Amino acid sequence: MRVLGIDTSCDDTAVAMVEDGERIVSNVVSTQIEIHRRFGGVVPELASRSHLDAIVPTLEQCLTESGAEPDAVAVTNRPGLIGALLVGVASAKAWAFAREKPLVGVDHIAAHVYSPRLSLPRPEYPYLALIVSGGHTALFRAESPSEMQRLGTTTDDAAGEAYDKVSALLGLGYPGGPAIDRVAADGDTEAEKFPRTLLGPESLDFSFSGLKTAVLYKVRGQDAKGRPLGDAEAPPLSEQRIADVAASFQAAVVDVLIEKTLRAARREGLERIALGGGVAANSCLRERLAVAADQAGLETFFPPRPLCTDNAAMIAGLGYHLLETPTAERGLALEARPR
Ligand code: KG4
Ligand code: ZN
Repeated sequence: MRVLGIDTSCDDTAVAMVEDGERIVSNVVSTQIEIHRRFGGVVPELASRSHLDAIVPTLEQCLTESGAEPDAVAVTNRPGLIGALLVGVASAKAWAFAREKPLVGVDHIAAHVYSPRLSLPRPEYPYLALIVSGGHTALFRAESPSEMQRLGTTTDDAAGEAYDKVSALLGLGYPGGPAIDRVAADGDTEAEKFPRTLLGPESLDFSFSGLKTAVLYKVRGQDAKGRPLGDAEAPPLSEQRIADVAASFQAAVVDVLIEKTLRAARREGLERIALGGGVAANSCLRERLAVAADQAGLETFFPPRPLCTDNAAMIAGLGYHLLETPTAERGLALEARPR
């Protein structure tokens, strides 16, 4: 059974074909990074317009690469930017209607939780999923493709959002994650003692806004709050100083992500940990989580980068299972929902 997946929830126009929920036949992503870069973040109206331009060519490329038509269509209908979601949902409805194929709606975050199942080695159920992206930081207990329980989430900024803001502060540009990851390699992680906000010994929730403010004060001084960030305001810091602050910031983020992930695994009695979301591409997080999990006797599953960042293979993969799930949202009445 071949499922066509479509995701336009944020700033990537993604279309993929997946067989039986596991074998990726085609996985096409048209990114808008260059369009949003000069604004230092995603501009929703520009994202919607870019999806409109990209959706048909991206769909055509995926269908050409696949060499065969799908048996069903799956589309992200929640959560995301509403104008962006609507482009994917309308396109998926049109395609499903014209070809008389079943249509199923997919939750983007649930698809990130599913995505480790699309590469080898595959985590067996149940597993713990740490989803860290520009919009989300959350821990899930995944029981089956369609059953998962959220164990914790961010109370303010997402991890990727913190990376992007600190990157702007240091004059490193957008997207911030890869930039900080790169310069932090030459920095001293002990140069600054930034806070590790754990929200108490039991909590599985996250908070990164205090860390972000601590970096702001350190770089710009105590009166810096409320002033705009961005390249134009970037302070004259030496390259070494930027590397040191980036490395110290990154160490604080990774410490918290690892502590909460191991806490969750321990509490839930889970032996397998999987990663998803754009921040899962972070080299420091991957290296240190692999070591920490190994010491705790846990197995780790780090999908390749194209399956960590936004993609439609995860939508098609999970969509395949949802076609058989009675409670799934389906058909031409499907609605796009931002939350
Ligand atoms: O999952 P994603 O592509 O889009 C969504 O937000 O859904 O994640 C994008 C986020 C951005 O905040 C970006 O700065 C971050 O992932 N990111 C990274 C790295 N690569 C991307 N953060 C840390 N280290 C990286 N290597
Ligand atoms: Zn995402």
